Amino acid sequence: MEIRFLGHAAFELREGDATVLVDPFLTGNPKAAVGEQELSPQTILLTHGHADHFGDTVTIAKRCGSTVVAIVEIANELAAEGIEHVHDPNLGGTVLLDWGFVKLVPAWHTSTTPKGTVNTPAGLIIGIGGKVIYHLGDTGLFGDLRLANDLARSGARAAGWEAPAQIDVALMCIGGHYTMDRFDAVSAAALVGARTVIPCHYDTFPPITTDAQAFKADVETSGAASVAVLAPGETYSP
Ligand code: NI
Ligand code: MN
Repeated sequence: MEIRFLGHAAFELREGDATVLVDPFLTGNPKAAVGEQELSPQTILLTHGHADHFGDTVTIAKRCGSTVVAIVEIANELAAEGIEHVHDPNLGGTVLLDWGFVKLVPAWHTSTTPKGTVNTPAGLIIGIGGKVIYHLGDTGLFGDLRLANDLARSGARAAGWEAPAQIDVALMCIGGHYTMDRFDAVSAAALVGARTVIPCHYDTFPPITTDAQAFKADVETSGAASVAVLAPGETYSP
C-alpha cells in the first residue's frame, strides 16, 4: 500500500482500488500537493473538526459519494449537510470498511467544526492493505500514547485481522503551537512504538515552522523508530 502526503495533516492511503483520504484540507492550504477536484476517495476519515482538517470534506464527499467516518458530533453535522454515507463512532469504536478498518483513539486537543459543532478530537488507527497506520491527529504529548500498539492490536482483532506486532507507520504532528512540538514528538515516537514515523502539521503557517530533519535525527539517534520526511506530494510505501 502507499501513503501520499498531501500537505499539512492530509494524507491519501491507497491499496488496489481503494483510496482513503485523511483530513482533506486542500483549499486554502498553502502546502497542498493537489486540488480537491483531483481526488476521488471512497472513504474520508476525520481526526477532528478544525478547518485545517475538516477542509474540503463536504465538497469531496458530495462529488464522489464518499463514505465519511468521523466522531459522532461531526458525523451528525455531515449527515445534516446531506452526506449520504456516514459512520459515527466515538473513542474506542472500530468501524469496518470494504478496504479495512479505522478505530478512533484519544488525542489531547480541542475541536469545533467551521459551523460551530463542538466535538472531541481523535487519533485514527487505520488498517489497510495488511498495514496499520496511526494518524495521531492534533495532540499534545500524553502518557497514554504508550497504549498505541495495544489499541492497534485490539482494533485489528475487532476487525477480524491477526493482531500486528506493532504499528507500521505513525503520522505525527511536530509543528508546535497548536500541537506538540518536535521535541515532545521525540518522546511521542518512543511511546507510540511504530516502525516508521512520518512527521506532519509543520511549516504550513508561520507559527508551526520547525526543523523536520532535526526531528528525524533526534528520533533515529534515540533508536525509537525510523523517520521518513515527505515533501507534499511524495509517497511512502511501508
Ligand atoms: Ni486542530
Ligand atoms: Mn490542526
